Order: sequence, then structure tokens, then C-alpha cells
Amino acid sequence: AESPEVFQTEVLVLGSGIAGLYTAIKASDSFRVTVVTKKKIEDSNTEHAQGGIAAAMDDEDSPAFHYEDTLSAGAGLCDPETVKILVEEGPLRVEELIAMGAQFDYEGASLAFTREGAHSRRRVLHAKGDATGGEIERTLVQAARLCPRIQVRENRFVVDLLQNREGAVLGALVFNTEKRRPEAYLAKVVVLATGGVGQVFGHTTNPEVATADGMAAAWRAGAALMDMEFLQFHPTAIHLAGAPRFLISEAVRGEGGQLINRDGKRFMDGIPGRELAPRDVVTRAIWKEMSQGEVYLDFRPIGRDKILRRFPSIRETCRNYGLDVLEAPIPVAPAAHYMMGGVRADKYGRTTLANLYASGECACNGVHGATRLASNSLLDGLVFGARIVERIKAEALQPLPRWSEVERTGARGEAAAGEAGFGRTPARRDDLPHGRAEEESMRSALQRLMWDKVGIQRRGGDLADAVATLEAWAGGFSPSAEEKDLELVNMLTVGWLMAKSALARRESRGAHYRADYPQRSDPEWGKHSLVSRRDEGVRYVPT
Ligand code: SIN
Repeated sequence: AESPEVFQTEVLVLGSGIAGLYTAIKASDSFRVTVVTKKKIEDSNTEHAQGGIAAAMDDEDSPAFHYEDTLSAGAGLCDPETVKILVEEGPLRVEELIAMGAQFDYEGASLAFTREGAHSRRRVLHAKGDATGGEIERTLVQAARLCPRIQVRENRFVVDLLQNREGAVLGALVFNTEKRRPEAYLAKVVVLATGGVGQVFGHTTNPEVATADGMAAAWRAGAALMDMEFLQFHPTAIHLAGAPRFLISEAVRGEGGQLINRDGKRFMDGIPGRELAPRDVVTRAIWKEMSQGEVYLDFRPIGRDKILRRFPSIRETCRNYGLDVLEAPIPVAPAAHYMMGGVRADKYGRTTLANLYASGECACNGVHGATRLASNSLLDGLVFGARIVERIKAEALQPLPRWSEVERTGARGEAAAGEAGFGRTPARRDDLPHGRAEEESMRSALQRLMWDKVGIQRRGGDLADAVATLEAWAGGFSPSAEEKDLELVNMLTVGWLMAKSALARRESRGAHYRADYPQRSDPEWGKHSLVSRRDEGVRYVPT
């Protein structure tokens, strides 16, 4: 195999959403930083975030209320210590973001706050009405570009983590997709901020880059992953044949938008919190209603002026699909949205591997529990990014590693692909989904399988089928070293970990709903699940 061109940096950040860029900017005060990102710097879930960023900054609010709401949405699976950190340090981090130039919306002289599901107060800051993520990403990209100690490397696909003999992380092996050659980035510290997994499912609000790459690379390297059965489905995305499931912000319901069925009836009426119940509750109610017919979101109760002021981007996108939110309700359906689980990280973002930190959606530090409270994720990226930097400043870091110290590249050997079968006996090629292009057909078969069998409503039999099918596909798949194939290996790996964890949890909690075990069972299941290459099955640890 072609030997990689080798680069050295002090802090290597993988990913360029809010978690990656904010960590990079903070770290650049003390370190040389390289940010590696799969496509363009803006290609991230952050860029698409609409509703906003939650922080207890209003006079009527307090971190204690935010703490209660987060814990209660998290359905017994939040880590109280990390949640406390999130809500207490959050306002300070948002002020830093404002000082960097992020322009949030104001009402008169005060910041404007909207309301979203399961928040007891109005505490969600927004920008340009419904384009909050875009404004945050713009601010961070500008700050990162202005900083001479930050190098941004776009169009780099992370193939695997680089490790020494003991498993400590020394950097990352990267494929430069422009020059089509391998590169190795060696660093004292690696921060994983590679985002989510939405593309593993047939219907998602996530952009194409969200293919679970960082989680899969961490798993191959031996890191523990936590709460992999908890995937949040957003209740409302546009539901039109042939159109992607474009997100319709929860803030629409927060400002008075109503869910109605095909007879024009509000079907959330009997449910506590109605349209603003926790996401998993609203999602399941919509799902149930959809078995009878189409479900719609009616913007009109919000009032024309407010719709125009608060939701300009949503309105424009709907118009592009021939829908006018001022005139008529629009068809909506749930879509895969946010992964609560991820690479296990502590209150300083430390993973179970030396020198590897994780922040943002790819990490699981227990703040989101079994259902994330709306708009807590942008805040999570800020707060724990800052804590990672605080920690690495205080620690004696390893010296800059040399290429000769690299013993293992994750499980890559010659290619990450070699481990596509999760270390199991390969299946017969006949078991694979067929098609003209194997990778394309397997990708869509995976997305369909996950949506149908590891989706909003799960059953033991379906989950067991999904686990067996994914093992068969992965075992028989011989991927090339091309980016699309490596992405597919990552999606198969993480899909399999999700299905396995969902099969093992025989109860319903938050976003994980088992039709065959519809009750929540705290004494037995009020614990985090853990998976790692070192363990055969799923382990559990207390919250
Ligand atoms: C939304 O605007 O509904 C998304 C907010 C979130 O996912 O936190």
C-alpha cells in the first residue's frame, strides 16, 4: 500500500461542526491545531440546526430549571453531574459565542427566547429566525480561519485512528480525497468531533456527511461506546414523495403550530404537553396516527407576521416544494435526527483510550440520556469542547509522536475494510443485497433495514433479524479503499452496534421503544449500555 505523507500537529481535531471548531478555537490559545474535515468546512449538522441553542439566560429562567427539564426528558438515563455542568457552564459559553460575533435574534434590547418541547421555560436562542446553526457555523468558521495557529484541512476522510502498541492514540490516518492519497496526522491529543449517524437510516434530517465515521473508527480502535440504542427521531420533517425529509423546527410548535390529522383534528389533545411533549412522545403519537393517514402541521395559529419573521428559511424551503405554510397545513413525518449514544466520554471529554477525547454528537457523556431535550446539543458541543481544552492545558501531554511509534491503525491492518465483518466468519456472497453497483444497493438496503427494523417502534424478532442480516452483509462485503465503501463499512458497523444494543434492552425508555416490552423498568434497566471490541455482548454501568 502507498505510504502516507506524515504531518505533525499538537492537537488534531476531527470534524468541523460546533464541537470541532469551538474546541479548535479554544485550544489554539495554547496549541498548534489542525482541523481535519470530510468535505467543506461548513458541511455539518450544525450548519442545518434551526430551532436554536438552549441556555438559561432569561431573567425568568435558571440553570436549576434547565437541569430539571433535561433530566426529565432524559428518562432516567442522564448523568446528573454532566447535566449540571452543561446547564451551569452553558450561559458563559453562549456569551463567548456572542463575543465572537454570533448574532442571535433580539426582542427590543433583550435576547429573544423561544420555546421547544419539554422545556418549562422559553430558553432557546435563535438567529435569523430559523437559521441558528448557519449563524453559529459562520461565526466559528470565520474565527477559525482568522486564527494563524489553526490549519483547516478539508476533503479529508478519516480512515482510522493511529495507535501505539499499548493502544494509546497517536493521530489519525486520513484519505485526501482531492489528491487521492493517504496522509497521517500525528498529534499529542486527538479530539473526535465527527458528528452523527443520520444517514444510517432511510429517512433523516441529517446531511450526507453524517455517516457515523468517527464512532466506527473509535470502535475499531477499542474505545467503549455508550447508549447506542438511543437514536432520536425528530417528530416533524416534510413528508412528500421524492423530497428529502427537510426539518421543520420544533420551534414552529413552540410558537403555536398545531399537529392535525387527515380529518383536520388535533390528535395530541389527550397527551400531557400536547405538541410540546418530549420528542419521543410526539414522534410515537404521529407514527400511530400515520397508520390511519397523513399527518399535517398547521402553522396558521402562529399568525402571519410571526411566521414571516420567525421562520423565513422554512417557509422558503416549503415554497420550493410547492407548499405555502401561510395558506395550508403541510404534510409531516418523523425522521432520524440525533444520536444520543456515542463514544463514551467523561466530564472532561476523555474517552476510554489514552489521548483520545470526544465532543458533540459523536460523544456520549450522559447529558442527553434516553431522549435529548431540544436544542441542548449545540450547547453540549460548546461546554464539553471548552472542558477538553481546560483539561489538556492542565495535563502533561505525550511528546509529539513519530511515525515509527505507530503500531496499529485502529483495526485497519491494510484497510479498515478488513474488519467489515466485525471479526466474524464471512457470509456467502449470495446473502448480500444485489444490484448493479454493490455499494449503492447495500447502502440503500442498510438504510431500509435500519428504518424498518431498528426504527421508531422496535420488536425483539426484528432486531434479531437486523443483527443477523448486518453480520451477514458485513462479512460478505469486500470494500475497496474508496471513501464511499469505507463510509459504508462505518455505517454497517454502527448500525450493527445500534441493533445489538436495542435488542439487549428489553424495556422501553425515551427514544427506544420496544412494542414487545412497552414499559420502562428502572430497577433492571436504569443503566447505560456499553459496547466495545473487547466485549462479546452488551455490558451495563450505572448512570
Ligand atoms: C429543531 O429546530 O426542532 C431542532 C432542534 C434540535 O434538534 O435540538
